[in-house]
Amino acid sequence: MRLLVVGGGGREHAIIWKLAQNNRVSRIYCAPGNAGIGRQAECIKLKATDVDALGHFAESERIDLTIVGPEAALATGIVDRFEARGLPIFGPSTDPARLETSKIFAKEVMQRYNIPTADFWVFDKPNDAHQQIRRYYTKQTDAKQNLVVKADGIAAGKGVIVASNESEAHQAVDTIMVQRAFGGAGDRIVLEERLYGREVSIMAFTDGETVIPMPPSQDHKRAFDNDQGPNTGGMGAFAPVPCFSSELLNQALESVLKPAIFAIRDLGIPYKGVLYAGIILTSDGMKTLEFNCRFGDPETQAVLPLLETDLLEVMQAVVECSLDKVNVTWKAQSAVCVVAASQGYPGDPQTGCVIDGLDKAASLPDTIVFHAGTQLENGQFVTSGGRVLGVTGLGENIKLARERTYDAIEQIDFDGMIYRRDIAASAAVPV
Ligand code: AMP
Ligand code: GLY
Repeated sequence: MRLLVVGGGGREHAIIWKLAQNNRVSRIYCAPGNAGIGRQAECIKLKATDVDALGHFAESERIDLTIVGPEAALATGIVDRFEARGLPIFGPSTDPARLETSKIFAKEVMQRYNIPTADFWVFDKPNDAHQQIRRYYTKQTDAKQNLVVKADGIAAGKGVIVASNESEAHQAVDTIMVQRAFGGAGDRIVLEERLYGREVSIMAFTDGETVIPMPPSQDHKRAFDNDQGPNTGGMGAFAPVPCFSSELLNQALESVLKPAIFAIRDLGIPYKGVLYAGIILTSDGMKTLEFNCRFGDPETQAVLPLLETDLLEVMQAVVECSLDKVNVTWKAQSAVCVVAASQGYPGDPQTGCVIDGLDKAASLPDTIVFHAGTQLENGQFVTSGGRVLGVTGLGENIKLARERTYDAIEQIDFDGMIYRRDIAASAAVPV
């Protein structure tokens, strides 16, 4: 089997690391990949969104299966174009992917299929949104009652502004709709009620009919310890989430994931690939914050190491609509992934710093070092982005996995390296 993985971050490294364990796999290409991925796959200099060139590559290199990592590639229509050329590909086409690429579409699906979510309003004119904000805050009886302002389109994970008071909500509308901080992605917006509670990510494999959830995971979005500092792409993750019982997982499957996937089927196009639901456990029960149409990053670096079943078998079954024939099993272990980032992240990261200690960290037991932003210079690994590495440790429980991860990351060093010391800390106590 000859495989092509599209993307070049820690998520794609984790996918490749798992796929490479199948001995039917003779060759893995990655576009564009990174230096760490280059140890397991051949990196090709094509952007993840260069759909025509990727299609040409897949045809000429006789690729048996292409796997898409990032949402930008899905939004560009890579799956539709590959399928039209008869090229097997893992991921949803653009229509189903609207669950991620249009927040309004996602909210409307949730409303129509009774998927629990926050109350919301849709606007295409800033004045109407401002009026709704005034109306909402006039009725406010508790300072916790607030609004969240969301750009409809994809905005590199930055299109959601959670307000803490009326003036922040007005400001958010102006940022998105008047200053057009996210361009056309902000032509329309969703205003929705702010929810409070613990956030959990549930990813599932699906061929449009069968839906198989992965262990629940949780990421840490703020840059610094104790959830301080700016939002990032994710500074670490762990799985499973001890407080998220199998009953809750079943509830998420039945009341969130399956209805969303069947809603898409009702539109006439099967949802194939991974669906990711961002869930929040409120005092009023489970609610859905968002859908992503792909593996999460860094959640994947914690979840895939727990997968016992062969990943290629699962992915092929998704593409061939035979997922009901696969028995997907998970290790009875926990995994913790801590991201090592560059000084300045998530703003302007410092790059080009030599990374020491990679082999020493990777040689520790039950430890994997995934690369996100690295490149080779004169035979040495150097930093090339904000998120540089994702170090994952496995153990019998979160506490032991955490110890492995931190023992490993302490072996690694580069100029200006930052990482959070409290990833999974709140989950490391026995429940
Ligand atoms: P989204 O891209 O819609 O998931 O939003 C990104 C993040 O914004 C989520 O992971 C939450 O932390 C936060 N968020 C989104 N919607 C809400 C909401 N209704 N209440 C509170 N926080 C939210
Ligand atoms: N970690 C959140 C995401 O992948 O969107």
